[in-house]
Amino acid sequence: MLSFRRSSGPPGHRQPADRAVRVGLITGASSGIGAAIAQRLADQGGWRLALCGRDRDRLDKIAARTGGLALRADLTEPGAPAALVAAAAPAPDRIGLLVAAAGVGWAGPLCTMPAEAVDRLLTVDLAATIHIVRLVLPSMLALGEGHIVLIGSIAGTLGVRNEAVYSAAKGALGVFADALRQEVHGSGVRISHVLPGVIDTPFFRRRGAPYTRSWPRPLPPDRVAEAVCRAVALDREQVVYVPGWLRLPGLVRSAAPGLYQRLAVRFG
Ligand SMILES: NC(=O)c1ccc[n+]([C@@H]2O[C@H](COP(=O)([O-])OP(=O)(O)OC[C@H]3O[C@@H](n4cnc5c(N)ncnc54)[C@H](OP(=O)(O)O)[C@@H]3O)[C@@H](O)[C@H]2O)c1
Repeated sequence: MLSFRRSSGPPGHRQPADRAVRVGLITGASSGIGAAIAQRLADQGGWRLALCGRDRDRLDKIAARTGGLALRADLTEPGAPAALVAAAAPAPDRIGLLVAAAGVGWAGPLCTMPAEAVDRLLTVDLAATIHIVRLVLPSMLALGEGHIVLIGSIAGTLGVRNEAVYSAAKGALGVFADALRQEVHGSGVRISHVLPGVIDTPFFRRRGAPYTRSWPRPLPPDRVAEAVCRAVALDREQVVYVPGWLRLPGLVRSAAPGLYQRLAVRFG
């Protein structure tokens, strides 16, 4: 069930009701990376934000801070992507920016992963995002502009032990981004793929397995928000690793897969 609430928000973000405005729809906006992106986009200005999450209190607070429209939705529910897109941009408004940041993790051996957890993860991290993209894309193509930013993960490039389903979902999201970029090439619509490493958010606690490595150190979510907002402000599609050096293990994996596998088994 989708519910929405408009915050009174900062006056600068108000728009006349009868004028078409560009909406920036952010999923996963109630926490962590999505919330940081919402804040940066609000500070940057130029978007009427539509913010999706499940937790009403957190979502309302972020909506109040950013002047956004709080759209409470559980993306695992059938029909939620369509209801979300319809509520985010009632005519004559239109979605000019989609940032798909909603995601859940799960850590542990595959055989111990409950079937419902597999379904939930694949739905939130992959299927719902694809549905939302499918729904916002036609009007972007018709207008010849728009930016879709998919929040992937380094796990989708490398494949992380005990995160097989999460790695698969994020890997598929990356291939989806690559294919879609080719499909819309020349249309004016940009497809960006942002791949964070370890980011200091409630993600690890919520997946039931805290981050325990001493290296790499978790980065603040604003580092990801900065990369997203730069791509949007430049109106340039990008594949961005946060931090940038995380591109290197993927290059090793492509250039020397045997060596990479041995290192991955040895060091995880
Ligand atoms: N943190 C990291 O180290 C890291 C690294 C690489 C990639 N990522 C990716 O970054 C994205 C954001 O993660 P985060 O670190 O910011 O985690 P987070 O703080 O746990 O935020 C996850 C967001 O997804 C939303 N969400 C989860 N299940 C949902 C559902 N069924 N329906 C609608 N929304 C749902 C949450 O909403 P509620 O809070 O309202 O439930 C929340 O807004 C995810 O795609 C994650 O895979 C994170």
